[in-house]
Amino acid sequence: MSNFPIYTVNREEEEGSDYPAGQSQGDVFAIRRGYPGSLEGERLLAYKRKLHSPRSPWRGSATVTNLTERDPMSSVTSTPATKGLEGIVATNSSICYIDGDRGVLAYRGIDIHELADHSTFEETCYLLWFGRLPNRSELKDLQGRLAQERHLDPAIIQFLREVPSTALPMDVLRTAVSALAFYDADDKKNDHEANVRKAIRLTSQIAMIVAAYDRIRKGKPVVEADRSISHAANFLLQLNGTKPSPTAERALDIALILHADHELNASTFAARVTAATLSDMHSAMTSAIGALKGPLHGGANESVFRILQAIDREKADPVEYVRNMLAQKKKVPGFGHRVYHTEDPRATHLRAMSRDLGRSSGQPQWYDMSEKIEQFVKADKKLNANVDFYSASTYHTLGIDEDLFTPVFAVSRISGWAAHVIEQLDDNRLIRPRAEYLGPPYPNHYVAIEKRG
Ligand SMILES: CC(C)(COP(=O)(O)OP(=O)(O)OC[C@H]1O[C@@H](n2cnc3c(N)ncnc32)[C@H](O)[C@@H]1OP(=O)(O)O)[C@@H](O)C(=O)NCCC(=O)NCCS
Repeated sequence: MSNFPIYTVNREEEEGSDYPAGQSQGDVFAIRRGYPGSLEGERLLAYKRKLHSPRSPWRGSATVTNLTERDPMSSVTSTPATKGLEGIVATNSSICYIDGDRGVLAYRGIDIHELADHSTFEETCYLLWFGRLPNRSELKDLQGRLAQERHLDPAIIQFLREVPSTALPMDVLRTAVSALAFYDADDKKNDHEANVRKAIRLTSQIAMIVAAYDRIRKGKPVVEADRSISHAANFLLQLNGTKPSPTAERALDIALILHADHELNASTFAARVTAATLSDMHSAMTSAIGALKGPLHGGANESVFRILQAIDREKADPVEYVRNMLAQKKKVPGFGHRVYHTEDPRATHLRAMSRDLGRSSGQPQWYDMSEKIEQFVKADKKLNANVDFYSASTYHTLGIDEDLFTPVFAVSRISGWAAHVIEQLDDNRLIRPRAEYLGPPYPNHYVAIEKRG
């Protein structure tokens, strides 16, 4: 049992405090039992001890106005974790709001539907990194900075040429992003401004790496970047070798907006954990890309399309195919979500895009199959389609190969990862939770090897 009862406090800032406003409610801390001094002094001292880490910008003092003792658990932990940390609130953040019951997703409070209808990926990046929508000149400035960063060191292109031809694009991206640090002018810097510069640079570079590697592995020449067009248009240009139609450009732009951030999903959590050790932005992005790759996370969109392809190839009935998967206790990629208990609001847009692009590109079969699968899985398993289900057919009709779907997810999510790393480092504390120990009881003595059975 704990020597440290856990308290939740509300506090009032004293004059001169520069601790960020709005973070004063519900802070959690532990007070050593029997700490000398008056109760009030104990509270304040303990409180100060928690906030005065060397990197904390807070330099004021505070009076605790409300103190609620919580049940102590093992060691200094608060509650035993749920499996997969389901429902655990693991950080404070001002970036992304999700209401899983109502199907609400908002960046900085702005509903994703409004952003998908009216914003651009560049403007959404500004919103995520700077906390508000830009004015015209701020947006123009960020667009210019992103375009200026459309450049890869020749060593990165050389690396892309030298990886084994069997290398998966997601693995190539992960390793190339790690290598980008060697050629980054801000490599040794970890301050706020340097990390904003790195966010901008990495956003441009990740898109270029994905496009360049696809060209190289197909034996095609790498396409020069065009600094006069949007991020989405330049990505499609560098990928396909031709400027996209306005419809294709806007479709990708919307997909990038929809994928840009999603609170404390697995890859973002990985990025924040890495950043919180005071490692660096490139390390955090490398961690995040590794986490995104898995089929339970960003890798699901590729799995979805492999199923659609198999159904098409075998001329199978989509419903029977999926019914068979479920009978074998297999999960259907693109369905279910840890947080949403209703329609994933991103799927609403991707469904419409998949339908419209499928029809306009003369490939309606992918949407038609998807729709039948969605209706069946919803009726049979009560599971909703998530962001990955319709992004598969959407990306395919944009001319993107299926093993690039997850890298394209990263092309967008870099914006959210970077926003979270910047937020983490602006008020950092090492992320180091505890594990509930379930192993052999202590003490479990060492047995000499000759005496073991
Ligand atoms: C997203 C996901 C990982 C969430 O996982 P989770 O919150 O841990 O939920 P669980 O895996 O515990 O699933 C809960 C139940 O629903 C079922 N379920 C969840 N997703 C399912 C799916 N896609 N297909 C079939 N059954 C599914 C599980 O089998 C489990 O059933 P059980 O209680 O009878 O064992 C999970 O829904 C999944 O694996 N989906 C497919 C992969 C995917 O699309 N990932 C991208 C997410 S954006």
